[in-house]
Amino acid sequence: MNLLEVKDLEVRDYKHGKALVEHISFQIKPDNCLAIIGESGSGKSVSCKAIMGINPSGLLSRGSIMFKGEELINKDTRDLRKLRGKSLSMIMQNAMSAFDPSCTIGTFLYEVLQEHLGLNKKDSYRMTAGIFETLMLKDPEDIAKKYPHQLSGGMLQRVMIALSIALKPDLIIADEPTTALDSITQFELIKQMIRIRKETGISLIFISHDLGLVKTLADDIVVMKQGRIVESGSAADIFRGPKSEYAKYLVGTRMALGNKFRTIMREAV
Ligand SMILES: Nc1ncnc2c1ncn2[C@@H]1O[C@H](COP(=O)(O)OP(=O)(O)OP(=O)(O)O)[C@@H](O)[C@H]1O
Ligand SMILES: [Mg+2]
Repeated sequence: MNLLEVKDLEVRDYKHGKALVEHISFQIKPDNCLAIIGESGSGKSVSCKAIMGINPSGLLSRGSIMFKGEELINKDTRDLRKLRGKSLSMIMQNAMSAFDPSCTIGTFLYEVLQEHLGLNKKDSYRMTAGIFETLMLKDPEDIAKKYPHQLSGGMLQRVMIALSIALKPDLIIADEPTTALDSITQFELIKQMIRIRKETGISLIFISHDLGLVKTLADDIVVMKQGRIVESGSAADIFRGPKSEYAKYLVGTRMALGNKFRTIMREAV
């Protein structure tokens, strides 16, 4: 059975009568990584937020999103909230928006762990310490005391990635998870993601403009343009012989940018 099956998804901006995403269909098998690529504004984030049920209320989703055999479209907000974090987790493109500005990082982590894993105080404290260890941070106690606005975007992104992994959901949606990171941190985190995927079998939807990274991580690829899917298939096929003009263009031009990173990854993994 597919872990996730999106069928004929449409996301519409009702106020402006505009479809942002139309006729989107794709599937993810368990223990698989699907990359979504495509130009800025093509609807990658809106589609993934529709899966998570976190688009703003003015954007309405239609179609079908089956996750572990359960329909997510029009699911009760409370039920969706339960799913989020525990089975389904998203690393947001804008890390800051995922944090509660009035809560220190330590308290935030602690509360998320308690809520989603039902841990007691002692265990969530221990797990929070484990998260900081994953992050390879020198001064975890100090960071735990900080508020989101006191940390850099890159640091918040690292915290969010580590938290998602710690929750061990069935599916992580990573929307440009490494954009705010320097290349060494990016490299370390991607290496960890690959290792954790191997160990736990967590499936991944990975959105990135860096096709070198996509080639390293993805089993399958969906190519989006102007709210529609223009091509989909195995990563091997799409990199070997893209069919649509747009995928040809993307693979042709964008690969060059990611090549350096890919070489480093190949040597290290
Ligand atoms: N809350 C919103 N209300 C109205 N339109 C929106 C909203 N969020 C996104 N859009 C529009 O939906 C379209 C798709 O946006 P989306 O953020 O999904 O693009 P993207 O593929 O993720 O781009 P990028 O690569 O820059 O992140 C864009 O035209 C965008 O302006
Ligand atoms: Mg986006």
